[in-house]
Amino acid sequence: MGGLDGLRISPAVPSDLDALGRLFPELAGYYRDRARQAGILLVARVGRRPLGAAYVSTRPAVEPEIVRRLGPVPMLHKLMVDETVRGRRVGTRIVRAAEIVLRRQGRRRVAVGVDLGNAGAVRLYLRLGYREWAWGLLDTVREHADEAGKVIVVPDVCRVFVKNL
Ligand SMILES: CC(C)(COP(=O)(O)OP(=O)(O)OC[C@H]1O[C@@H](n2cnc3c(N)ncnc32)[C@H](O)[C@@H]1OP(=O)(O)O)[C@@H](O)C(=O)NCCC(=O)NCCS
Repeated sequence: MGGLDGLRISPAVPSDLDALGRLFPELAGYYRDRARQAGILLVARVGRRPLGAAYVSTRPAVEPEIVRRLGPVPMLHKLMVDETVRGRRVGTRIVRAAEIVLRRQGRRRVAVGVDLGNAGAVRLYLRLGYREWAWGLLDTVREHADEAGKVIVVPDVCRVFVKNL
């Protein structure tokens, strides 16, 4: 448990990456890799302590089905909150911050892929106004990046949720 007073959400700065890597070791390489890309890596922190993150991809999705159905829609990836503060709306605030950034960029829609069995994340997105698309499960890939940043890609399926901004 920790106080959430002064929680701020903003794009990652270089000093966030080591701290994020300590908080979510399995995603250290992923966030480091994405911080170099064109999208937005959002970090929630109190002071200098990160408590959560998400990557907002603004490039067309790698899944052809997403592009065919939704066009070059931005997507949320790897929303993560520190276990010790889950259930205290940090995740909600990160998603809302992502939506605000996208709206300011003139985006009208956002999508997210959710792993099968992640009922908690589904409830979160439904509560925030996301709705499951009508085209069933999406063939996708799951990416892991090791701490050296080497990305390992394995086939997977997920559910897709979309919100009009
Ligand atoms: C999903 C996750 C980001 C939510 O963050 P959070 O800060 O706890 O979310 P909030 O407090 O804003 O909202 C809580 C909602 O998340 C859901 N949730 C999922 N896992 C939870 C957990 N371990 N503790 C509390 N709530 C959880 C609850 O359904 C809750 O919905 P409700 O309030 O309608 O019941 C967080 O649980 C997490 O990091 N999970 C592991 C990674 C993950 O599954 N990411 C989603 C990828 S699509």
